[in-house]
Amino acid sequence: MSDPETVRFQCDTSSIDWQDLVSLFELTRLGGREGDKVRRAFENSTVVCFAFDGSKLIGAARALSDREYHATVYDVAVHPEYQGRGIGTRLMKQLIGMLPVWRVLLVADGDAMEFYQRLGFEPFGDVMGRVDNAKLFDTD
Ligand SMILES: CC(C)(COP(=O)(O)OP(=O)(O)OC[C@H]1O[C@@H](n2cnc3c(N)ncnc32)[C@H](O)[C@@H]1OP(=O)(O)O)[C@@H](O)C(=O)NCCC(=O)NCCS
Repeated sequence: MSDPETVRFQCDTSSIDWQDLVSLFELTRLGGREGDKVRRAFENSTVVCFAFDGSKLIGAARALSDREYHATVYDVAVHPEYQGRGIGTRLMKQLIGMLPVWRVLLVADGDAMEFYQRLGFEPFGDVMGRVDNAKLFDTD
């Protein structure tokens, strides 16, 4: 495993192996999704960022934004063998650095709340959401 200093960050979708990304999600509690829908979601995102150790995909994050006022962050993941070494923080800082907006929202799943609080996020009052689980998967 490389030193964290040698980790490479890439903020576009060129040459991403989408199956590697699906595998990363499986390892980090963000799994259960299939390749092509994941690829389209990242390609349709406003900003993306990936982390690599050599050619190994070890981190990912993406956001949707109007590039003026609002952004929403999704799919932040660091490979379990690389967690706790500052890679998630660097991924998030790269992502936020590309978003010159007033407000950034995200859903802090599980115990990730403390991780986001260290990056300046805090619980946000009146946020509401609606989910349609049928749209989690491609339909043939
Ligand atoms: C959350 C996640 C992206 C953090 O990535 P990471 O590379 O481990 O984070 P960092 O090493 O930059 O951690 C920064 C700080 O946050 C803390 N932290 C990181 N993950 C944490 C967690 N799950 N719970 C509590 N604190 C956490 C670290 O202790 C660290 O503090 P330190 O600087 O005092 O050591 C990573 O743990 C992960 O992929 N988790 C599984 C998927 C997930 O939960 N994603 C978020 C969904 S909303």
